[in-house]
Parts: sequence; C-alpha cells; structure tokens
Amino acid sequence: MVARMGTFTRICRYISRNWPLFLVSVSCILVSTIVSVQVPLLIRAAIDNVITPLAENRLEIELGKSTLFTLILEIIGLTAVVGLFSFIQRYANTYFSQKVVYDIRNDAFASLQNQSFAFYDKTHTGQLLSKVTTDMDRIRRFLGFQLTFLISSIILLIVTLYTMFSINTMLTLFILPIMPCIFATFYSFGKKIRPLFTQMREQYGSLTSVLHEAITGIRVVKAFAQEDFERKKFASKNDKYFQTTLASAKIRALYIPLVGFLIGLGTIIIFWYGGFEVITGTLTIGTLVAFNAYLAMLVMPMRFFGMFISGYHRTMAAGNRIFEVIDAETEIKEKPDALTLPKLKGHVKFENVSFSYRKGRPILKNVTFEAKPGETLALLGATGSGKSTIIRLIPRFYDASSGKIIVNDYDVRDVKLKSLRKQIGIVAQETFLFSMTIKENIAYGKPEAKMDEIVAAAKAARAHEFISTLPKGYDSRIGERGVTLSGGQRQRIAIARALLMNPRILILDDSTSSVDVETEYEIQHALRAVLKNRTAFVITQRVSTIRNADKIIFLEKGEIVEEGTHETLMAKKGAYYQIYQTLYETQKPNVEAVSEHTSSKQEETEQ
Ligand SMILES: Nc1ncnc2c1ncn2[C@@H]1O[C@H](COP(=O)(O)OP(=O)(O)OP(=O)(O)O)[C@@H](O)[C@H]1O
Ligand SMILES: [Mg+2]
Repeated sequence: MVARMGTFTRICRYISRNWPLFLVSVSCILVSTIVSVQVPLLIRAAIDNVITPLAENRLEIELGKSTLFTLILEIIGLTAVVGLFSFIQRYANTYFSQKVVYDIRNDAFASLQNQSFAFYDKTHTGQLLSKVTTDMDRIRRFLGFQLTFLISSIILLIVTLYTMFSINTMLTLFILPIMPCIFATFYSFGKKIRPLFTQMREQYGSLTSVLHEAITGIRVVKAFAQEDFERKKFASKNDKYFQTTLASAKIRALYIPLVGFLIGLGTIIIFWYGGFEVITGTLTIGTLVAFNAYLAMLVMPMRFFGMFISGYHRTMAAGNRIFEVIDAETEIKEKPDALTLPKLKGHVKFENVSFSYRKGRPILKNVTFEAKPGETLALLGATGSGKSTIIRLIPRFYDASSGKIIVNDYDVRDVKLKSLRKQIGIVAQETFLFSMTIKENIAYGKPEAKMDEIVAAAKAARAHEFISTLPKGYDSRIGERGVTLSGGQRQRIAIARALLMNPRILILDDSTSSVDVETEYEIQHALRAVLKNRTAFVITQRVSTIRNADKIIFLEKGEIVEEGTHETLMAKKGAYYQIYQTLYETQKPNVEAVSEHTSSKQEETEQ
C-alpha cells in the first residue's frame, strides 16, 4: 500500500506540472455539475407552479403558457451551459492527460536510453515493451477518464445529496440505503469482470500471435505438412477466447438487471412514501418527479466508485512498473569529475582484468594484454570463451569486476562515456540496422556527415557498389517494406557506419566465417582499408585476417592461453597451431581463390 501511495503521489507530481489545464478541467466539472443539478428543480417548478395549477384551474391559461415557456427556455439554456462546459472540460482534460502521459513517456524513454547493457541483460524485451505501451495506456486512461470521473462523481454526489436533503430530508433518508447497494453491486461486478477482461486481452493477444506465426511461417508449415496442427492450435486458442467472452456475457447479464432492480426499488420507495405524502399534501408532485431524476443521477457516481475501486490497484501497479523503469539507476555511472577524453592515439591496455556478468560466474580471468597505436589484434577462441566480452569492456559497456582497462593512460572509468565511445568504432557480432534509409544508417553516429563522406565510408567498406545497384541507392529504406539485405551486405553497412566516425579504435566482432569467395574477397579488401592507421580488435575465424594481425590472443574459458604473432604461435605448435590447421583446411578454397584473385588483379594493375 505504501508503494501504491507513492505511485499515486508520483503521478500527482506529473499532474502538478500541468496544473493550469487540470484546474480548467476541474472548474468545468464543478460548473457543469452544479448547473445540471438545477435542471430537475426547474422541472419541479414547471409541474408545481404551472402544470398542476393549470390542471386545477388555479391559473390563468395565458400566464401559465408564458411561465412554462420561460421555464423551458431556462432548461434549454442550462443544458446548453452544461454542454459548453463539458466540451471545454473534455478538451482540457484530453490535453492534460495526454500531456502528462507524454511527459511520463519521455522520462521513461530517456531512462531506457541511459540504462547499461547489464540492465537489458536482466530485462525481458517483451516485458519492457509492454511496460512502455500497455502500462502507459492504463495511466493515460486513469488520467483521461477515471480521475475526471472520480472528481465529477464526488462533486455530483455532494451537490445532489445536498439539494435532495434541502428539499425533502425524509424522502432522501429513505432512498439513501439503496446507494450502498448499487455501489456494492458495481464493485462486485467490476471485481468479477475485470480479470475476464484481462484474460480476454491476453487470449486475444495469443490468438493474434498464433495467426501471425502461421502467416509468416506459412512456408515452413506447408513444407512440413503441418496445416492440421496449426489449425488445431488456432482452434483451441479461438475456443478459449470464445469461452471467456461467454463468461463475461454471463456476468454482465446477471449484474446489469440487478442494478436495474435496485434503481426500480428506489423508484418504488419514492412513489410509495412520496406518493402518500403527495396525497396527504405534504409533498408536491414536482418534488416527486425531481427526486426520481436525482435517483437516476446518483447511479452514475455509485457505478463509478464501484468500478474505480476494483480497478484502482491495477492502475497503480501499472504506474509502479513504469516508475521502476524511470527510477532504475544505471550501473555504469560517470564520475562527477570525469574527464573529457582528448583525441586518442589508440593505445589500449588490459591489466589483470576479471569480469562476470553474474556474481559467482567468472567469465574473464586475469586478462592482461596491450595493443599499441595502429596495431591489429586478433582475438581467437572457442565459442563462449569470452571474445565478445573482452571487447565490450573497452567502450565500458560493462565495468570490470577487478583490474583496469587503460586507454591512452586513462582508466576508462575516469572519463566521460561519450568522449570515450565516440572514438571507438564498433561492428558488433549481430548487425543491427534501423528502419531508416541506408544513408541515415551509415550516418547514425554522425548525422551531420556530408554525402561524399558517407559515400567514401561506404566505398572503404566495400558497400558502395551494391548500394548503387539498389533502385533508390543510398535512399533505400531498410527493414519492413524496405530492402532486405544479405548478412554480408548488412555487415558492410555496419562497417561503413563505424568508419564514418573515423575512430582511432576499431572493434570488429565478425563471426561470419563461412561466406562465398566473392564476399570473402570483398570483405578482406574492405578490412584492409579499414584497419589501416587504427588500433583494431578483430574477432574472426578468417585465416587471412588472423595471419596478418600484429598480435593474436588465444582465449580459453576466459583466460589468455597463448599470445603472439602468427609465426611465433605456429612455431610453438600449441593450441593456436591446432586451430589454425583446422581453420585453414576448411577455408582453403576461399583463401587460395582470394589470393589468386588478388594477385591477378595486382598483375593487371601493374601491367
Ligand atoms: N549478456 C550476457 N549475460 C550473461 N552472460 C553472458 C552475456 N553475454 C555472454 N555471456 C556468457 O559469457 C560467456 C562468454 O561469452 P562471449 O559472448 O564473450 O563469448 P564469445 O567468445 O564471443 O563467443 P562466440 O564466438 O560464440 O561469439 C558465455 O558463457 C556466455 O554465455
Ligand atoms: Mg562473440
């Protein structure tokens, strides 16, 4: 409960940032409620002061008509005022609720952008997405409808009850006990129907995802002749959804008449007790009719309170989840006195670095090595040996558990993250491209880049040729409804993206070892240009790249077991020698073809 109060207070803080809009909204509710409560009073006047005296021949017909006409005009006038204020209220309220959610959404997004890699390792992407969409929507509905209804219900309840008490206390006391009953009915209705709504939403979601998979995976379904299986899967989900809809219809069918019955009971009381009073002359017919109208007016707040209370904790839970995201402290923090890194020469040192993603499961153990400016370092090792982990520590995606990572005499923990990361170009193991144009993707790290810079980067990455063959060239969109690129092409765009930053340190996590001869040639050529004049860390299985590296680091279970140049390590006849033999055997056709290709090209140019 404490946490929920906290969440409510937090939401209120966002509300207070937009208080003028909120104030407009509440004032309009106040005005329109007070005015709408006056309408039954006018009806009462019409009956008691005009219609009844006319019927009893106590009033002159002409005077009666004109009074009635004035009253009708007044009713129309009041209704128009209510309409106008409701309009302003709705507009102000939508503006206000959307603005508050807009602020919360922006804060949540900013916080997500600031989170470290470790945060994303721990969090499920689907859950995160649902937090920022479904939960946010719940908050929006809370602010947009529920909060307004809450305020207007309270105002309506107070004003109506006050009016009722002031015109007939006894009659009000008689129908008052009905109100808690209507409230309880709606409360219980809300409590029963809400889980069904959630269930229906979830079931509908899973129905859609089966449909989505069956459509996108139709080729696999057909290839394995599993149409029946898919049909059954769909039918079973469809059936569940259908059953839940039925269950909710049953609850509705049960409760709605119950509320109708309670309202009817109120009417009976009004006419039973009030009717007697009319007969004895202590109550006017107009008051009786007005009371009946007030009874109907009171149902709305009861209905709302009932539904609100049963749904309130869900909204607060949604708010809580969102604030958890907003409040999450990033694990990679800059020191308050962090230095802005000057232009790097590209000297990188690991000193006794140990690291684990999770406590108690060490991944890197006492890793020590050095890369001098301009050197190319190849990282080699079995899958899971920690190659990608090592390179993630250089841009400080994670902090080492112990030991130091030094870039140009600076500990990476002492410098501003931006100034560090801007000087490191990364081509990650999984290439991620945004659904933007190729040009925008290449210029991602340097949006102000000129077109010729972009083309130059693409040329160096050997991406220019295939980009030029696309119908829209550099303006081709990537991703859904855009061009689909092969793995090698995507990788070369990622290389161009890294190159455009002209980084002193370049990291290439390239585990795509099995490519065709032509791509191998292209990639090698690209790499040669790319690695020049930079300190580079390359994770690769490509023998040509490994052989040309200035230093090879061989990892086994997070420890460096061998280190040196290709020649020294070959001479050692250890682990590297073994692996190299195997790699060479499998890549022999490529290596030979490429070296032939290269030499014949060289001959051509020499001639
Ligand atoms: N984000 C992460 N959270 C937790 N454990 C991780 C994470 N990333 C990697 N690991 C674990 O750390 C170990 C080293 O992983 P790493 O990705 O560095 O291996 P790798 O040498 O790059 O392998 P590969 O050649 O398959 O890319 C593995 O056991 C892996 O399961
Ligand atoms: Mg890896």
